[in-house]
Amino acid sequence: MGFWGKKKHFERISVDALQPGMHISVAERWLDHPFLLNEFTLENEDQIRLIIGLGMTNILWCSEASDAAPREVIADRPRGPSWPDLVSQARKERDERRVKADESKKSTALAAKAYTKASKELRNAFSMAYSSPKVALEKAMGIVNEVAGAFSSDQEISIVLLSDRMAKSNLHTHSVNVMLLSLLIAKARNASEQDLKDIGLGALFHDIGMLRVPDAVRMKEESERTSADQSYMQLHTDLGTKMTLNLPDFTAPARGVVAMHHEHYDGSGYPFKLAGEKIPLFARYAAIANRYDNLCNPARLEDAIPPAQALSRMYKIEGSHFDQPALASFIKSMGVYPPGSIVELSNGALGLVTSVNRSNTLRPLVALWQEGVKPEDAPLIDLGVETEVKIVRSLRPSDLEPAVREYLNPRARTAYFYSKAVSG
Ligand SMILES: [Fe+2]
Repeated sequence: MGFWGKKKHFERISVDALQPGMHISVAERWLDHPFLLNEFTLENEDQIRLIIGLGMTNILWCSEASDAAPREVIADRPRGPSWPDLVSQARKERDERRVKADESKKSTALAAKAYTKASKELRNAFSMAYSSPKVALEKAMGIVNEVAGAFSSDQEISIVLLSDRMAKSNLHTHSVNVMLLSLLIAKARNASEQDLKDIGLGALFHDIGMLRVPDAVRMKEESERTSADQSYMQLHTDLGTKMTLNLPDFTAPARGVVAMHHEHYDGSGYPFKLAGEKIPLFARYAAIANRYDNLCNPARLEDAIPPAQALSRMYKIEGSHFDQPALASFIKSMGVYPPGSIVELSNGALGLVTSVNRSNTLRPLVALWQEGVKPEDAPLIDLGVETEVKIVRSLRPSDLEPAVREYLNPRARTAYFYSKAVSG
């Protein structure tokens, strides 16, 4: 089998030869067709009637992507009186879909804007952590209160995938990601609003001690670090804890996250080798979020592993490191196809999962790959709305044709943020 997304060859046939199972393209003649995609496999006679009803006489089909061959054309298919209704119904449904897709696009754009603002505030906060600790904390609390407030409301929250091309250092992106993912776990574990604030603050500052580790050590490739470098890196929890002592009103539960986010449930972590419930609960949440982001979004992007694989590794191989109920809640909240997954849909389309809603993790929002369309204009489909299409499998970036891979898996840092109820 070749790569996913390989260029297909189409040839023209009469619409009277169409039958379900044939893979066709409608991109050529109608920019304004009522179908979800330009290219798809025919599933039923209604779709064929619709094509004929739209006035087409011939169409492009691709034999290698089809499960059925053209049927022999004996006579023209009868044109029933109900066909114009079928066409107007399809157009109406398409228009409704467009409105919903626009809403999804808008909420993603709002999430991106809110993320950019929070990320800028955090940069300011971190840069002032020594010079003006009071202002630094106020800025950080501004971010935390807003996000924790949204998580504690009854409104359904979606985790949205954004790409942070501006990120020069991983620290700010990573801090926001760990905050979001820790809050997702805490929300699933029914944390109170005050708990959400403490967890959010602790997670946002969990790696602040890295600012005290010299760049010469921090920026080194992991493989090039000496054991002395490694020990210096591990000091970040202690250095960070001391920094938070200078921040007035930095709460004790939040400080526990900074101090103990590298402890492992089985006692194999650092710096105290604490085990089990001796590790504060919020630090156990942050440990899960931290590991997940480091696997999907590592310092060297070439080392990144796909989201579903990261979850399965944490569950199967590293399970003893984590608080089991919290890990189970995290996996459940992220779903089978976490944001960042590359997926194949039942209509043959390939796409990137960009947003997942906790209440329906099997039906996330997917940005589709379409030949000749720029990534920023990628059509978004909300599987919560397009119920006739579903995800059939997730793919690894290496399974894709280079052009599709570049489109769906660009080399940019992944940032998570949230939006309020994209669907459902
Ligand atoms: Fe850390």
